[in-house]
Amino acid sequence: MKIVVLAGGRSTERNVSLSSSAKVANALRRKGYEVALVDLFLGLPDATDQSMAALFTSQEQDVNLNISDEIMTDDVINALRPDGTTQLFGPNVLKILAMADIVWVGLHGGDGENGKVQAVLDLNNIPYTGSGALASGIAMDKSVSKEIMLYNGIQTARFVNIRKEDSGTVVLPFGFPVVIKPANGGSSVGMYIAKNDDEFKQDLKEAFQFDDEILVEEYIDGREFSMAVVNGKALAAIEIIVTDGWYDFEHKFVTGNTTKFVTPPDIPDDVHDEMKQIALKTFKVLGLSNYGRIDFLWNDNGLYVIEANSLPGMTPLSLMPQEAEADGIRYDDLCDQIVQGQVQ
Ligand code: DAL
Ligand code: MG
Repeated sequence: MKIVVLAGGRSTERNVSLSSSAKVANALRRKGYEVALVDLFLGLPDATDQSMAALFTSQEQDVNLNISDEIMTDDVINALRPDGTTQLFGPNVLKILAMADIVWVGLHGGDGENGKVQAVLDLNNIPYTGSGALASGIAMDKSVSKEIMLYNGIQTARFVNIRKEDSGTVVLPFGFPVVIKPANGGSSVGMYIAKNDDEFKQDLKEAFQFDDEILVEEYIDGREFSMAVVNGKALAAIEIIVTDGWYDFEHKFVTGNTTKFVTPPDIPDDVHDEMKQIALKTFKVLGLSNYGRIDFLWNDNGLYVIEANSLPGMTPLSLMPQEAEADGIRYDDLCDQIVQGQVQ
């Protein structure tokens, strides 16, 4: 079976995607699939049908799994500026996607996770892993997904949604500290915790560099967990323990940091079971399918859903692979199960 692993793109999580996708591509090759790793944005400038066909291989390839700036040459950085003049689909990308039996959407954030790429695949009758276009769009928008959660009785932190044009007149309905995040972001890029009004004004300004819509949430003091759902089954939860600061981009992806992960976590069975029920319910009410990951906080008031991730990270430090391992599912088998969940 031929699989294109679609990577990169031009979102703020481009490098995370390159790391996830390189690892997934090699895992699927080890499972015997013929895999081509393709950068959605750069494409294959001078490719012929023959040279594109030759990209599919079941041989493992050397890839850079570290999230560093080395893969970001000046050409790429300049080309990635989302000024509307750059094309999302690099040359020949659609053509090579059509050669695949299925596309693994290895993109994170932006147009790769918000349903637009999924819609293009739908319109071209190309099967793909992960959720469909509408559910992806819903899950990517933190405000819309939180409204749906609340409507369905799922506890989530109180929040307000602020548009750029209204940012001068914000009155918060809750006190400090508050969490500020781009409504359509990921991997904690552009996320801040403000402890007073001055910090809030400054952080809001910074956050608006990443999105035209910002979510401000009341700060929930609690233990942090995450739980993946794969083919209708919730995996073991994972606890994220950060002792120096909070679980930001550095703690998520830079090796050698101090983040501690515990899976299965040291929590009462009934809380773990409840987390599973809520993860499955959240997955269902948002319309997600195949796989995804739900993030949680837990304190004396119970479990809060932070958000749903429709294309969770698959990097060497990511959460879902660790949870799968705790459930006895090795990385390569996890990737295989995700593909099989979509082709059967
Ligand atoms: N947005 C990152 C990749 C995650 O959810 O794991
Ligand atoms: Mg996220």
